[in-house]
Amino acid sequence: MSIFIRGGTVVNADRAFKADVVCFGDKIIAVGDHLDVPAHATVIDASGQYIMPGGIDTHTHMQLPFMGTVAADDFFDGTAAGLAGGTTTIMDFVIPDPKQSLLEAYHMWRGWAAKSAGDYTFHVAVTWWGDSVHADMGTLVRDHGVNSFKHFMAYKNAIMADDETLVRSFTRALELGAIPTVHAENGELVYQLQQDLLKQGIRGPAAHPLSRPPEVEAEAANRAIAIANVLGTPVYIVHVSCAEALEAIVRARAKGQRVYGEALAGHLVIDDSVYQSADLEYARAHVMSPPFRAKHHQAALWQGLRGGNLHTTGTDHCTFCAEQKAAGANDFTRIPNGCGGVEERMAVVWDAGVNTGLLTPSEFVRVTSTNAAQIFNMYPRKGIVGAGADADLVVWDPQGTRTISAATQFSNSGFNVFEGRTVRGIPSHTLAAGKVVFERGQLRAVEGAGRHIDRPAFTSTRAA
Ligand code: URP
Ligand code: ZN
Ligand code: ZN
Ligand code: ZN
Repeated sequence: MSIFIRGGTVVNADRAFKADVVCFGDKIIAVGDHLDVPAHATVIDASGQYIMPGGIDTHTHMQLPFMGTVAADDFFDGTAAGLAGGTTTIMDFVIPDPKQSLLEAYHMWRGWAAKSAGDYTFHVAVTWWGDSVHADMGTLVRDHGVNSFKHFMAYKNAIMADDETLVRSFTRALELGAIPTVHAENGELVYQLQQDLLKQGIRGPAAHPLSRPPEVEAEAANRAIAIANVLGTPVYIVHVSCAEALEAIVRARAKGQRVYGEALAGHLVIDDSVYQSADLEYARAHVMSPPFRAKHHQAALWQGLRGGNLHTTGTDHCTFCAEQKAAGANDFTRIPNGCGGVEERMAVVWDAGVNTGLLTPSEFVRVTSTNAAQIFNMYPRKGIVGAGADADLVVWDPQGTRTISAATQFSNSGFNVFEGRTVRGIPSHTLAAGKVVFERGQLRAVEGAGRHIDRPAFTSTRAA
């Protein structure tokens, strides 16, 4: 029942200090100097290593039904892969079909997620508007631990939320003390650009980024921010991929607006040259939205993270194998959108962020765990190494290296967008709910061990 982690450097968002950490059951019960080892405790030697709060991936799509298929990693595969990389909580998305009841969809997703090996919680997408949506949002917030709602401003003729839906849903979220989030891309522009490219006979994956230039993302980010400003709601922008969308956030925050931004591990290190590959299977494997961008956007995203204008890192883990991606072999608009990363995020952000001096270890913890816990109201249960918090911990070996490859990953998809990248800084141990679930390359994920994390509403300024 007890685990004693000896002699490491605890890294929290506010400070780093030498300490032992004692866990009992699923909680951390003590953090301090020279603590006594409880009888029968399992002892982990963390000397020369960091002890950090387990990662929170703010953006995953396990077994998502999407674009005519279903994402390859289910909730067990995906959460287990996360544990191997030091991520102990995922924030996934319930995405109702237009006209489907939000509650019905929520219960479907909860059923799928029951096999998770790590903790999980859901943003619920508002893909249409009606009285029942208004009512279901209330039920989800009051009775089901949901405090964030997602709006896809892209994917016209599918799950796209129009302006009426955005305005009504943001208003409702404010009443309920929930936070609206957006996938910011102008879906109408994407659709028209896609049709133009197809008409010109440009049908391969290289057309994907041409149909979704930075301006398309910036327009939607600015619109969502303007709507939130008029209505007086906070807004969280998922997968900010370009300097132009970040500029919209920076402008709004400078005026005092409560706007949050998320960066994806992939967008931080991968550029748009992947779409030019003569290997079309390889190019298709990188099709996700927003697409990978020209290299200069990466520097902007890192600056955003360091400067506090981007707050969280996610992955948008949404994997499709080569046969699934081949559905779009003759038409890039039919390539299922999505890439992996839940297993690699922590190491990629550490290697490209901390090893280069762009982020301090505490800033790393802030953008991989603490800010997510605070923005989505899971703090201090999650996001801190402290007495009373969940015993979700990663013992981080800053000298350990790994060369990322689909051949050795735990994810199911058969492809890895970080293939061949050697990272320095990897988990030696991951603890989830007080159990050692990953130890020096050995994964001990247990199907069904993950728990749903209820996230209470924020104190509302208006009655629900
Ligand atoms: O391409 C992506 N990102 N697929 C998953 C759905 C979404 O837009 O987040
Ligand atoms: Zn998205
Ligand atoms: Zn997504
Ligand atoms: Zn397959």
